[in-house]
Amino acid sequence: MSVQQSLIELPLDLDRQRIPSHVAVIMDGNGRWAKSRGFPRIIGHQKGVDALKDLLRCCDDWGVKILTAYAFSTENWGRPAHEVEFLMTLFERVLRRELEEMMAENVKIRFIGDLKALPDSLQSEIAHAMGKTSQNKGIQFNIATNYGSRQEIIHACQSIASLVKEEKIQLDDINEELLENYLYTGGIANPDLLIRTSGEMRLSNFLLWQMAYGEIYVTQTLWPDFNRQEFHRALLDYQKRDRRFGKLN
Ligand code: IPE
Ligand code: IPE
Ligand code: MG
Repeated sequence: MSVQQSLIELPLDLDRQRIPSHVAVIMDGNGRWAKSRGFPRIIGHQKGVDALKDLLRCCDDWGVKILTAYAFSTENWGRPAHEVEFLMTLFERVLRRELEEMMAENVKIRFIGDLKALPDSLQSEIAHAMGKTSQNKGIQFNIATNYGSRQEIIHACQSIASLVKEEKIQLDDINEELLENYLYTGGIANPDLLIRTSGEMRLSNFLLWQMAYGEIYVTQTLWPDFNRQEFHRALLDYQKRDRRFGKLN
């Protein structure tokens, strides 16, 4: 039995009661993974899809309720056109290919970000996938595509400002709960744990509001190499943390 297979069940050194409900992941290092092997960057993105598929399954196996993955940032449009085009086509292809299996596994899919700027064909694939899986009761899988937290907060402010202008709410009605409802993540609990691969210690415009008290774990491992052993390590580290939320224990 391979090590990977032996990790289908929750590892015994993890406390089942303290598994994070919501895990978010910045899947970074695809380009460096490919480069170090002499491949074009896009091969790294392709390999990255397999790592994400396995993490989704692992989260489901180990009792994580929500997985949110950063697939494309509002700043990633600034990359060379061929890489951007490749990624858009990849998202579409993967979504079409994996939908049946995700249905069978009861996964509920949601895309977060400014989806209107995505290619039309990808937008329809996204609408189809979200509609088809909307009643599923299994793990919730959020994919951040054309997502930028600053843009998300501005978008929420605009929605709220127009409610005030139309006198549907008063200024005093604006509070944390209301603002959260207008974020792309409205209705989704904040992440408990954010994992970033490839050693970078920054948020890169991901879930700025939502991560106010989320735990951050950074690994040097590049995203295509992130596997169940790596996730196990991240969870062990998370379970050692003392989450105080500003209070004293
Ligand atoms: C993350 O890997 C994937 C996306 C941003 C789409 P990168 O493409 O950023 O890989 P590196 O950081 O250049 O190695
Ligand atoms: C963050 O990675 C975006 C995604 C993983 C989709 P980047 O590679 O774009 O971030 P920076 O440029 O290193 O901050
Ligand atoms: Mg990167």
